Amino acid sequence: MDAPIPGKTIETHAPVYVYELPVRLWHWVTAACIVVLSITGFLIGHPAWPLFVGEPDHHYLMGDIRFIHFAAAYILTFAFLGRIYWALVGNRYAREIFLPAFWSRQWRHEFYMSVRWYLFLERDSQREAGHNPVAQMAMFLLFVLGILFQIVTGFALYGEGAGPGSLSGMLFTSWVIPLFGGSQQVHTWHHLGMWYILLFVMAHIYLVIREEIMSRQTMLSAMISGWRFFKDKRP
Ligand code: HEM
Ligand code: HEM
Repeated sequence: MDAPIPGKTIETHAPVYVYELPVRLWHWVTAACIVVLSITGFLIGHPAWPLFVGEPDHHYLMGDIRFIHFAAAYILTFAFLGRIYWALVGNRYAREIFLPAFWSRQWRHEFYMSVRWYLFLERDSQREAGHNPVAQMAMFLLFVLGILFQIVTGFALYGEGAGPGSLSGMLFTSWVIPLFGGSQQVHTWHHLGMWYILLFVMAHIYLVIREEIMSRQTMLSAMISGWRFFKDKRP
């Protein structure tokens, strides 16, 4: 296992192999799952749609929408478990979104400098091989915690249908539903969880494109080929 890197700016101008194949595959599979889960989840929460005409058992549309939601939920969950495993065995960058090094003074300084950069108060971005500290923190707080919350509340709701003897019933429904005070409350929080994650997604896509154009390193191609390139030779 590589040593952790609390201070993240780097000296080299040579390309760095940052995102290994499992991380890249996981990223795009997860992004697709979140799109599917958000559309189907939104329709589960707001089924009053002009599409839903006629007897439900004639078209079984809600049933299909729920099935797609659950299938994507299983893919997302197993992919996330795989991602946690890869954080343990992969390169140092594979751990970044799970472990922002906020205890390090250097990291906090670079966090501050990244905030200044995002606010257009710095002329140059820092040169980072992995995520900048602000991105890292957002990925941990909004994405990692958000996904965990959706998995726990989602499987608690799923266990209600699957029954108390089911695995999800025993592992999640049994304690999550009483903790939130009832099934309806879990529905509402699960629904809010979607917007919490979508907040991340909207900011993420905007910032990835902004950084691609304005920062000193490549972004989009890094999540496709795995390699990060640096655009200038300045220190
Ligand atoms: C639902 C949609 C998406 C989610 C949930 C998502 C989530 C994430 C996460 C968690 C990471 C960190 C990866 C890691 O270090 O393990 C990441 C990185 C990245 N994502 Fe996404 N992503 C989404 C969509 C997109 C899209 C549409 C693009 C392209 C426009 C994109 C481009 C990137 C890039 C370039 C990185 C690397 C950023 C960097 O090096 O700092 N993502 N994404
Ligand atoms: C990013 C991940 C996810 C998003 C964005 C999402 C979104 C949603 C939304 C918006 C709803 C409607 C809630 C309401 O207003 O009643 C919903 C329902 C539901 N979700 Fe998810 N969800 C996600 C992950 C999961 C996971 C991992 C599971 C686990 C199986 C799951 C299982 C369910 C269940 C069982 C329901 C209720 C279905 C029903 O009452 O017919 N979800 N989801």
